[in-house]
Amino acid sequence: MRIVFIGPPGVGNGTQSNRLVAAYQIPHISTGEMLRAAIEQGTEAGKISAGFIDQGHLAPDSLVLALVEERLQQSDCERGYLLDGFPRTITQAQGLDQYLQARETPLSVVLELKVETALILERLAARGRDDDRPDVIRQRLERYAEQTAPLADFYRQKNLLQEIDGIGTPDEVFGRIQQVLMALPG
Ligand code: AP5
Ligand code: MG
Repeated sequence: MRIVFIGPPGVGNGTQSNRLVAAYQIPHISTGEMLRAAIEQGTEAGKISAGFIDQGHLAPDSLVLALVEERLQQSDCERGYLLDGFPRTITQAQGLDQYLQARETPLSVVLELKVETALILERLAARGRDDDRPDVIRQRLERYAEQTAPLADFYRQKNLLQEIDGIGTPDEVFGRIQQVLMALPG
């Protein structure tokens, strides 16, 4: 399985990714986690990304694409993987497409969790990560609407998009995701 999670900040992408990778025994590749680790370690990628993340803006496409491509080449990705929070722009999606086409390893499915904004704000306020400050959350939601939401159509046209109601307990949402995955062809 090669799975992509798009969906706005706070919708539950990370929460559901953790369940999915445990069930399918595939690596969880979260670009947000990778960038936070890079910042922590003080790498060049981390130094470049820190200001973007702190302001709720996206890190540069070229930087994120390079990180992901390097990660996908590791041997644990041969059996599949879950991409959480990547791609996030059309440029990233096109870059990923090129990479996957060259290797004849197409995506299995793109999952888009849906939750209304008021509930997202509640969830993020309760979590309290460094970038869960009201002004930054607003910026992240705006970046999503402008730069990432167009990916839904991009993947719908490729017949890969599956929209999932993200309201309910994490277990309820996971049940919906499992149903979608079980119904996939192949
Ligand atoms: P990233 O780490 O991806 O953060 P995000 O998109 O802002 O999303 P979150 O992690 O906040 O949301 P989530 O959906 O994972 O929510 P979670 O499951 O934790 O990115 C951070 C930053 O890195 C970006 O702003 C950007 O700057 C940069 N970046 C990352 N990827 C990039 C890329 N590809 N290109 C460029 N820049 C990039 O849930 C949230 C809370 O809700 C938790 O407390 C959870 O316990 C709770 N919760 C979850 N599900 C439920 C439920 N069903 N019911 C009740 N509570 C729930
Ligand atoms: Mg997350």
